[in-house]
Amino acid sequence: MKDTDCVWLLRWALPQLDMRWPGFRKVRGQTCKRVERRLRELGLAGAGDYRDYLRDNPDEWRVLDDLCRITISRFCRDRGVFELLGREVLPELARRAEERGRPVPRCWCAGCASGEEPYSLALLWRFMDGVPGLECRIIATDSDPAMLARAGRACYPPSSLRELPEPWREAAFTQEADLFCLRPELRAMVEFRCQDIRHSQPDGTFQLILCRNLVFTYYDAVLQRKMLTRLADRLDSGGILVIGIHEHLPEPAADFEALRPHLKIYRKAAHTRTGP
Ligand SMILES: C[S@@+](CC[C@H](N)C(=O)[O-])C[C@H]1O[C@@H](n2cnc3c(N)ncnc32)[C@H](O)[C@@H]1O
Repeated sequence: MKDTDCVWLLRWALPQLDMRWPGFRKVRGQTCKRVERRLRELGLAGAGDYRDYLRDNPDEWRVLDDLCRITISRFCRDRGVFELLGREVLPELARRAEERGRPVPRCWCAGCASGEEPYSLALLWRFMDGVPGLECRIIATDSDPAMLARAGRACYPPSSLRELPEPWREAAFTQEADLFCLRPELRAMVEFRCQDIRHSQPDGTFQLILCRNLVFTYYDAVLQRKMLTRLADRLDSGGILVIGIHEHLPEPAADFEALRPHLKIYRKAAHTRTGP
């Protein structure tokens, strides 16, 4: 399938999945390859035939929805964000947990891919000057079972670790053939769950939520606002929300104050709601 045909198909189909084309523009190669494979499976000649197939087979929209999951990630992606989390946000979380007698701060990584992001948090927690003996609970969710299976194996190519400080790589991973495998005690800090964020979120509230390069890149404006309300409901007052560095919070987001606008780190104001 030619790139122009794939672009034509995506521009037509994405709005019907509550997604937005601009989010896919630069990374469409991953989805286009998968759609091409799907056309071969179905014995269809091109994008136009697939559009007709979608019109005649409503169940196929679920398949296309899966094909639209972009899964790019790496450890400490946008390193400045993780430096700030390690320097200010996590130590504050630890201090507050101790003050309140709440032993275990809770963090949620939504759209965690193969574990790179929640494991980066685990590494930050382990290597920062924190409160000795204080653990943190990291729940990581993704709707792609294949990604979660890779997260469970926790072995990565060197390219996934390129933003990770060198001493951490040495302390936290063992090398097996061409891969770097995270040590079991760090793996144990993250609990993975298969959840589609549009339909369910982990129970309870969190002091820190990372929702990066998913909702605010790929979803349309209406779904973004709905998801922001859900995320706000899951955050404690004063809790921290981190979105992707190239993303924007949908308006109105008056309940969130930017802690570092350029790093897209926000604090939820006390006792407020973002929407209906
Ligand atoms: C581009 S990756 C971002 C990974 C990581 N947050 C980061 O910024 O590096 C997006 C991830 O979200 C997952 N995803 C896509 N749609 C989802 C959904 N509806 N619910 C949960 N996860 C989803 C994908 O499987 C993928 O692993």
